[in-house]
Amino acid sequence: MAQNWTPNSWRQKPISQVPDYPDAAALAAAENQLASYPPLVFAGEARRLKSQLADVAAGKGFLLQGGDCAESFAEHGADTIRDFFRAFLQMAVVLTFGAQQPVVKVGRIAGQFAKPRSSGIEKQGGVELPSYRGDIINGIDFNEKSRVPDPERQIMAYRQSAATLNLLRAFAMGGYANLDNVHQWMLGFVKESPQAERYRKLADRISETMDFMKAIGITPESNPSLRETDFFTSHEALLLGYEQALTRVDSTSGDWYATSGHMIWIGDRTRQPDHAHIEYCRGIKNPLGLKCGPSLSADGLIELIDLLNPANEAGRLTLICRFGHDKVAEHLPRLIRAVEKEGRKVVWSCDPMHGNTITLNNYKTRPFERILSEVESFFQIHRAEGTHPGGIHVEMTGNDVTECTGGARALSGADLGDRYHTHCDPRLNADQALELAFLLAERMKGGRDEKRMVVNG
Ligand code: PEP
Ligand code: CO
Repeated sequence: MAQNWTPNSWRQKPISQVPDYPDAAALAAAENQLASYPPLVFAGEARRLKSQLADVAAGKGFLLQGGDCAESFAEHGADTIRDFFRAFLQMAVVLTFGAQQPVVKVGRIAGQFAKPRSSGIEKQGGVELPSYRGDIINGIDFNEKSRVPDPERQIMAYRQSAATLNLLRAFAMGGYANLDNVHQWMLGFVKESPQAERYRKLADRISETMDFMKAIGITPESNPSLRETDFFTSHEALLLGYEQALTRVDSTSGDWYATSGHMIWIGDRTRQPDHAHIEYCRGIKNPLGLKCGPSLSADGLIELIDLLNPANEAGRLTLICRFGHDKVAEHLPRLIRAVEKEGRKVVWSCDPMHGNTITLNNYKTRPFERILSEVESFFQIHRAEGTHPGGIHVEMTGNDVTECTGGARALSGADLGDRYHTHCDPRLNADQALELAFLLAERMKGGRDEKRMVVNG
């Protein structure tokens, strides 16, 4: 077990991004109530994810992590969850084909409620109020009452996470995730896409492969792995009182686990090595993500790896790089070289969202071309360094929103107002998310062909 660690040792450390709850007794009561509730996930599931991520770290898999920037209480409908899951599974199939490797599926869902903010204050028309920090903390409406942190919201977030997870488990194991279904949805997408010609070639090859498998008797009916799928949950471990209340000892190993989700990550604003968030995360055994932005130095990264993964266990740590399309070439190589030099086992993942946010017509948005460009650079840099580009981390929804510009339907700044629904950052809509998967799959295949030519030539 981590030395001198307890589930509440983070309380002795400096902390940032912490909400100002006006009623300490009400907060303690809510945390005690949560501590008496059942865990949302089991340690064994977190270990299973860790072992799949260990394969990714070894270059034998690809991580797809995605979902809302912030889940909301208002949008907690079955259709929203189903449509997200449907888009996500299609991406996973396309990427599996592109990578010719298993894709580890991790949603930003069933717990992704708390948001770090660049400013504690939001100003609108001369009025200043505390910033919105996610539905688990306060309300998004711009009035004084709604912005007061309310501990009851933690109970609501827990219950919503439980219900979401329940439906996801049913979808993943109950036949909905059947490969035939996913394949048919994907063909529907290609048919409707303005870029149909471009995507058809890859889609046809997937169809041929499916026909071949069927011909030799590998079908969803005969093969459980074609009708069920592993699907894991993740969120940023920002609200540590909530996390602590759901931190439990695993009876089989005696280890501590966060049971609020399978994987949790540390945000770019809360990764100070001597602060509370690192302290909490170092003591639990779940797979961890660490956001790596431009301000992270190579030495700083190695220091954090020492704290979070002193045993150098593969699958424990995923480095989620979020530099921006124009900064990735400057920052990623130095981090890769430091990690390689020290022989640390990590999963390298690319978050092409958080370094590419701009304001257009008063909307926060992200141009699709920049998102694609950051991922492409990420792949090229890893290829040049001889390391494995292990995954992507995206903010996306299954709905037809207008939050990111560009993509095959060429959403413009003027379209943003049509269906701009996010509670925080702009997400890829279902079509844009799937396009990204197709474009990456093409590149992955290109990369493999190149390698083959080098080997054979
Ligand atoms: C996020 O993932 O929504 C987020 C706030 O990211 P970062 O910590 O990288 O800014
Ligand atoms: Co975000």
